[in-house]
Amino acid sequence: MRRKGFSPAGIRCAFAVAATLWAVVGLFSITGLAGQARQVTAAGSYSAAQATRGKTLYSDQCVACHGEMLEGVVGPPLSGSDFLVDFGGHPVADVVQKIQSTMPQQAPGTLTRAQATDLTAYILQFNKYPGGPDLTDATATQFTLPGGGATPAAAAAAVNTSGLPTVTATANLAQFMRAVTFPNANIIFNTQLYDPGKEKPKMPIPYDYVLWGKTVYYGWEAVDEAILALRDTSPMLLLPGRRCQNGRPVPIQNADFQQAVKNLVAFTDELWKAAQTRNQETVSDLSEKLNDTCANCHKVYRDVSASGGASTGSLTADRCNANPKGGGVAQ
Ligand code: HEC
Ligand code: HEC
Repeated sequence: MRRKGFSPAGIRCAFAVAATLWAVVGLFSITGLAGQARQVTAAGSYSAAQATRGKTLYSDQCVACHGEMLEGVVGPPLSGSDFLVDFGGHPVADVVQKIQSTMPQQAPGTLTRAQATDLTAYILQFNKYPGGPDLTDATATQFTLPGGGATPAAAAAAVNTSGLPTVTATANLAQFMRAVTFPNANIIFNTQLYDPGKEKPKMPIPYDYVLWGKTVYYGWEAVDEAILALRDTSPMLLLPGRRCQNGRPVPIQNADFQQAVKNLVAFTDELWKAAQTRNQETVSDLSEKLNDTCANCHKVYRDVSASGGASTGSLTADRCNANPKGGGVAQ
């Protein structure tokens, strides 16, 4: 689980597993298997000089979000079993790539390959994998971090042998909300300001595809379609494998989170009936309740800060906390 207060015992345990695997691979190397394409251990994969340089970079650019002890602050932990949830079973190269292409989060793409490699070396050293020769692009693909680590989404993809696409949780929750839930809800909230039966939206000048679309599909039909979209997409909020923007898994196992999704889905039935009256006031009144349906979940799982106060900042460490303070979503 990806929490700030992770248990040191869990980490020691993960180190023990890593150390054991190292011993096993050590045995293999005696029997001549060393030098094989893949080794399920990161032991011996980096040099002490790389880790030392990585440590300095880490203190400059990463510590604020990932913590002195790599325990996770705003960003997820980079140590122990938490780290292996994502990277267990993956080549070390995936860690280098992740860092180089997405970190530091506020300035991705600013690290060189060598810096991303040094940072990876430091993370491996911190996780007590013993050092060895320099980590290079070539060796980074050969060393694999121990552990299954398959996410539920990856597991689902693995059992899908049909070749047809499956429903996946690729977007983080904030992206899903902004792309799907928010725009559809806004079409419904708009009935507070405009009567969908009255105005046909005008073609914008200068031309704009998004606004033009609203001149093609508009009015009560667009309201109906937004309600249907919310109905059909909201169950995806409970899809396994999705993360929140801060890296925590979406707390889909929490009964109150599940209930909040159920409430939203159930509420779309009410909205649908109201929309069929084609009466602005009826839908407008109900859209206040839609707002409550969103806010009931947000006040527990979104608008929270680590210090306990309300926050609307999008990168708070306490978002999506599986053990929320203050009793959870009212049922
Ligand atoms: C502004 C905060 C911030 C900074 C600074 C930052 N990170 Fe991150 N990091 C995050 C967040 C949030 C995530 C989770 C979202 C994601 O995976 O992109 C993350 C994810 C990661 C992951 C993937 C962890 C996992 O288990 O999936 C790695 C590795 C990582 N960061 C390394 C670094 C390194 C190395 C630096 C310094 C160069 C750094 N980060 C700087 C916020 C930050
Ligand atoms: C079951 C809980 C739940 C429900 C119901 C819910 N949300 Fe969210 N929403 C969240 C969480 C948690 C986040 C933060 C996600 C993250 O940080 O990745 C979020 C984020 C958002 C964001 C992005 C905010 C940001 O800072 O990036 C928007 C916009 C949003 N929700 C709109 C809505 C609307 C509109 C509704 C109702 C129609 C709704 N949500 C219903 C849990 C919920």
